[in-house]
Amino acid sequence: MATRHFLTLLDLSPEELRYLIQRAISIKNGLKTHGPSYTPFSNRTLAMIFEKSSTRTRVSFETAMAQFGGHALFLSPRDTQLGRGEPIGDTARVLSEMVDAVMVRTFSHAGLETFAAASSVPVINALTDDYHPCQLLADVMTWTEKRGNIRGRTAVWIGDGNNMCHSWINAARQFDFQLRVCCPRGYEPRQDIFDAAGDRVSVLHDPMAAVEGVDLVTTDVWASMGQEEEQAKREADFAGFQVTEAMLDRARSDVIFLHCLPAHRGEEISTTLLDDPRAVVWQEAGNRLHAQKALLEFLLLGRVESWPTQQ
Ligand code: CP
Ligand code: NVA
Repeated sequence: MATRHFLTLLDLSPEELRYLIQRAISIKNGLKTHGPSYTPFSNRTLAMIFEKSSTRTRVSFETAMAQFGGHALFLSPRDTQLGRGEPIGDTARVLSEMVDAVMVRTFSHAGLETFAAASSVPVINALTDDYHPCQLLADVMTWTEKRGNIRGRTAVWIGDGNNMCHSWINAARQFDFQLRVCCPRGYEPRQDIFDAAGDRVSVLHDPMAAVEGVDLVTTDVWASMGQEEEQAKREADFAGFQVTEAMLDRARSDVIFLHCLPAHRGEEISTTLLDDPRAVVWQEAGNRLHAQKALLEFLLLGRVESWPTQQ
């Protein structure tokens, strides 16, 4: 099987992505019914390179590998030669000789592409400055569990045109739904990513108008990792873009609210929004585990239809 990477949602076909979502739901249900009895990764190792902080991504990938009978290695630039200037291409070649897949959280998306080009084992993007595709697998899975097929529905992104926003745009393309991106002027998503999505995606600047009649509302922090020094300026620039219960009241009555987390209560969301029954963020966070199991299984073993139905 040729090595496949997962650097953006565009690396898989729409049909493969739909398979992954259904497979993630089956894996989750199988875990609930049978416990962690499915161990397809015996003696397999995932290297996890983290150049930025993480709670959910690290725990979900590490737990996924453990429950699947394999092993995950946490690597940070502080403790490896990556932090002392060993070229990323050399690191990719070395790791390819030893492990079965590599997960990378880093700053530069171009750097990740360089790493993947030198790797002979699958490389997974666990967040770059430009994309966070693993989060979108969990997000679409959560939507699917709550409301069924996302095709033809309307979601609104309120906030920064950042890595998460770019992956929502790619998700709109791949899963065929409408996306309204509502951001302050000057914080729009990258033009090429927006243009490639065609008329599925629009950019707006008035949050109260943007949420009107939508099926799904989502947002993210105003200052992403690496933008800490812009925090004060962004707080001022994003005034009026806080997602509130009153905003959700303007959406459809069965709207759901997603947030990749971590959340800053009192900034991009009201202090009480995560307690609102329309917020499904804990289920969304937990789905990182199941969605990434489906992704790892697909990249290492290809399609698997047999478990949990035939065990
Ligand atoms: N949503 C997400 O990726 O969280 P972490 O930064 O904690 O991994
Ligand atoms: N946009 C955020 C997402 C964190 C999961 C960041 O890059 O920091």
